[in-house]
Amino acid sequence: MVDKTHPKLDEHHTPVTIVEGLEHPMALMDTIPDEPAELTELANRSVVSAKQFSRKQIVQLCRLASKYESTQNIGQFPLTGKILISAFYEPSTRTRLSFESVWHRLGGDVISITDPATTGIAKGESMNDVAEMMNHYGDVVVLRDTNEDAIYDMLNSLRIPIINAGNGTDEHPTQALADIYAISKWRPDFLEENIKEDKKLSICIIGVPSHMRTVRSLLIFLALFSSSIKEVVIVTNSETPFSKDQLSELKQAGLVIRTEDNLESVLPDMDIIYINTITWRGESYEEHGTEYSLDKNSPLKKDAIILHPLARGDELSTALDDTPHNWYFAQARGAVFIRMALMTSLVRF
Ligand code: CP
Repeated sequence: MVDKTHPKLDEHHTPVTIVEGLEHPMALMDTIPDEPAELTELANRSVVSAKQFSRKQIVQLCRLASKYESTQNIGQFPLTGKILISAFYEPSTRTRLSFESVWHRLGGDVISITDPATTGIAKGESMNDVAEMMNHYGDVVVLRDTNEDAIYDMLNSLRIPIINAGNGTDEHPTQALADIYAISKWRPDFLEENIKEDKKLSICIIGVPSHMRTVRSLLIFLALFSSSIKEVVIVTNSETPFSKDQLSELKQAGLVIRTEDNLESVLPDMDIIYINTITWRGESYEEHGTEYSLDKNSPLKKDAIILHPLARGDELSTALDDTPHNWYFAQARGAVFIRMALMTSLVRF
């Protein structure tokens, strides 16, 4: 017999926490001047890599996202009559649902593929041919695929924009936009050009930059904001944490970056701790285990925030959910607003 009693059944609403409220996005809007012209270059463009964005574009996308987040009723539907093709050939909770939510919120319609086995790909159809068809069925494609080349194959035939929602171990640029948006809501001065020396952030990334797409894209963005960062510390026990040229490119871009294998010794100095354990390899994923994990006993700075692209495993204790360190839910929530900002900048036809 199912127990049909639950304390939540007697509640009328869920309380809004400070990280979900309007205070942070409004502070961000007040800090950053509105310069919409910076976003015009994004019109009708595909988004495959974080490398395509300039610092100014990211700053303005964050500002526009904060405007969407602060506005309860946006009162306009710029994507009316537009169709999003949401093609997810690999599992997703947040990315697919947030892109689809964005498209609906902006007035458009969505058609979805959530399982490649239900498409011609199961019969050996090429991504080139799939892309050719998609030109006629929708206005923008959002693609997630375990194969990092799939998006490039589709670009050969596509005449409508495509957005990379995660291509194998390569990149996840819109997740990195959500990461920067979360950081900038917590500390709006992160987006400013001339941050004071004592306000620069120390950022710990628990993960393997060579194999984690979220980390790869985030590092590209962090390099653009090197002037706001004291240092980035990669915590890993991998003997080859970086792919060819990755570390030298980040350093060349101005990022102060080092690796460490002892998390406990690093944590007390860190302002932001970004943790991830999942890496996709072919059709399945690997977890990098719980050798590095965060819980209520972790030696965190009082004001430190934790970010996680999610889905989480045992590496991030649920006991941290009710603490001020939890910015990972705000990060996931903010992904809706930063993707609204991106979509309204891209779709201008
Ligand atoms: N962050 C992220 O990519 O989550 P999903 O796998 O649920 O889309």
